[in-house]
Formats: sequence, structure tokens, C-alpha cells
Amino acid sequence: MSILSKHKVIEKNATLLLVLSFLVVTVGGIVEIVPLFYLQNTIEKVKGMRPYAPLELAGRDIYIREGCYVCHSQMIRPMRDEVERYGHYSLAAESMYDHPFQWGSKRTGPDLARVGGRYSDEWHVDHMIDPQSVVPESVMPKYGFLMNREIDGEYIEDLMRTNRMVGVPYTDEMLENAVADFRVQVEPFGDTDGLLARYPKAQVRNFDGQPELTEMDALIAYLQMLGTLVDFSTFTPVANR
Ligand code: HEC
Repeated sequence: MSILSKHKVIEKNATLLLVLSFLVVTVGGIVEIVPLFYLQNTIEKVKGMRPYAPLELAGRDIYIREGCYVCHSQMIRPMRDEVERYGHYSLAAESMYDHPFQWGSKRTGPDLARVGGRYSDEWHVDHMIDPQSVVPESVMPKYGFLMNREIDGEYIEDLMRTNRMVGVPYTDEMLENAVADFRVQVEPFGDTDGLLARYPKAQVRNFDGQPELTEMDALIAYLQMLGTLVDFSTFTPVANR
């Protein structure tokens, strides 16, 4: 019996084919996945990463609610064209506090992983209210209604607790101060020492230019911090150390 006719036996028996295919896929999976748990550079800790400040977290929630991820990715791949356009390629650690992560699989608009600081708050406000007013050929929808939706951080502590349940290291102190930190991030003259000690590099200002605290403030606070936590002038990948 040649080897091919032996294979015939498998091909004629659906159950045997299924069992053997499953075995092959399992072995392949183990060989590919298990080493990732032991490689140092897939799980490296990176200086500067911290959990989202309450207002940023609320902004992230709005980002997810509005489906921004349908058109925007947040993962810069280590290829030259991407790195030249968007900046340093994304590190795994940069999404370690993202539940769910926002890597995305579709780019109708640009990648947003490092959009923080690229534009002024005013630009974002104009762009959100009417994208075509700043980029005439844009197909992005209008989100002006976010300007009229006031928020007060009523549920922010719950949201942080939920994040803590899935592994984000929010401390009891962070939870106790959640609402205060949420509100003070838009008050440049407020007492922001606690906020900045708990969330280094948090940006404090009136993001949407209105006296009320709105969803637009939260969303822009989130956009403006994206990709700004890690200082890449001091970062060297583990493999090169
Ligand atoms: C239908 C697809 C679509 C959706 C949904 C969408 N965008 Fe966009 N976005 C685009 C396109 C296309 C561009 C590029 C043209 C422009 O700047 O408007 C863009 C550009 C941007 C930019 C400027 C990025 C840069 O580097 O120039 C930001 C910031 C942005 N979008 C944020 C958002 C946010 C926040 C949401 C959700 C509230 C969102 N987008 C939803 C398509 C979309």
C-alpha cells in the first residue's frame, strides 16, 4: 500500500479526519502561542504607562460607544511607511490597560494611536462638529451633539471598578477620588495636585471651550493623551538592551 492510499483511509472517514486535523491544529497552536508567554519582549513593562485618568476613561467609553473604532485603528505597525507617518510603532504595553483594546482592523480614517498633541483642542472641536470644515474631502460623520451632552462623573467610579475587576490596577485611593479627579481635569485653576500625582502627565484644561463639562471634553481629553505616555527618546526594546 502506497502512502497515498493510506491517506485515502483518513479521507474516507470524516470522524478520523476531524480528530487528526484537530490534533495537527492543536500542536501548531501550542508551538506558536506558548512561547509568547515566556518571551520577555512580548510582555515587557514600559516606563510611563499608567491607567487612564477618570475623564480620559470616560472619553474612551464615548469613543467606543460612538463606534470610532469602525473607521480608526490604534496600532502602528513596525513598517517604515507607518512609522514615518504616525510615529514609533505601538508597543503591547501601550494597550495593557485597554479593555477592550482598540487595535482595530479597518482604517477608513488615519490611525489614532499617537494623535495626542498633534492638533489643538480647537481643531478637534471644529473637526468633531463638522469634519468637512477642516478636511473638505472627509467622510467622517459629525459629532457636534457631544457638545450638548453634559456629564458629571456619576458612574465613573463604577466604570473604574469594572476595569479593576479585569486587571487595571486602580487603587482604592483612585476610586475614592474618582469623581473629584474627573471634574478637576477641566479646571486649570482647580486643585489638581492629587490628580497629577495619581495620573502623571494628565493634561488639565477646558478641552471644548465651554463652561459646562461635556462628553466633548472627555473625548478630546482622551484623544489628546493617546500615545503621549511613553517617552520614546528614552525607550529601548528589551531585545536591544
Ligand atoms: C465613517 C468613518 C469614520 C468614523 C465613524 C469616524 N471617523 Fe474620524 N476620520 C475619518 C476619516 C476619513 C478621517 C480623515 C479625514 C479627516 O480628518 O476628517 C478621520 C479623521 C479623524 C481624526 C484626525 C486624525 C489625523 O491624524 O488627522 C480624528 C482625531 C478622528 N477622526 C477622530 C474620530 C473620533 C473620535 C470618532 C468617533 C467619535 C471618529 N473619528 C469616527 C473617518 C471616520
